[in-house]
Amino acid sequence: MKIFLDSANLDEMRKAAEWGIIDGVTTNPSLIAKEGLPIHDQIRAICDIVDGDVSAEVVATDAKAMLEEGRSLAGIHENVVVKTPLTRDGIQATSRLSKEGIRVNVTLCFSAAQALLAAKAGAYIISPFVGRLDDIGIEGMDLISSITKIYRNYGFQTQVLAASVRSPIHVIDAAKAGADIATMPFKVLDSLFNHPLTDKGLAQFLKDWEKVFQETHASR
Ligand code: G3P
Repeated sequence: MKIFLDSANLDEMRKAAEWGIIDGVTTNPSLIAKEGLPIHDQIRAICDIVDGDVSAEVVATDAKAMLEEGRSLAGIHENVVVKTPLTRDGIQATSRLSKEGIRVNVTLCFSAAQALLAAKAGAYIISPFVGRLDDIGIEGMDLISSITKIYRNYGFQTQVLAASVRSPIHVIDAAKAGADIATMPFKVLDSLFNHPLTDKGLAQFLKDWEKVFQETHASR
């Protein structure tokens, strides 16, 4: 499973890139707005840090303007994947952009029916929002399972990206459900490292080592 960082923050980007475990980045208008720079500048800076797919979302809502924005965003860097919302205009723009060879991540997906339309439109990635479905009492991970099954039934090449991931459990369950990608905030990515038995075991290793070799050194 590929791991993407769901952030536009360059400090988080650099830290995650140092670990050597992220395969790409997803942003959205809220994440870009948090950083306060024009989207072209922010996305270009991200592409300079992470060598992988970087999703940049259009803010237009009509197909014609989405096409113009999408072409402009795609022109920033070869790694840019244009994000369009799962609306009628978003699917129309996706169909056109994918025919032009521009890769599209269709976002704000909340049903298998929507995901089917995105694959038909030639989406490169589909982004079902797991956490936001959980927020309203619907099992978000069931959607990932449904989409991966449908896509496998018909050989759709669209990658399933689990989005709105809020915890390590979401990451593990997305992997079990066969998602191609999970995108997550830095806080969730960082928490994947944590286990108390790792900390305890390392402390004991070092204590045992120092007990013998420190004494050996001391006795010289
Ligand atoms: O990429 C989509 C993701 O950023 C949304 O996450 O936690 O705002 O639902 P969240």
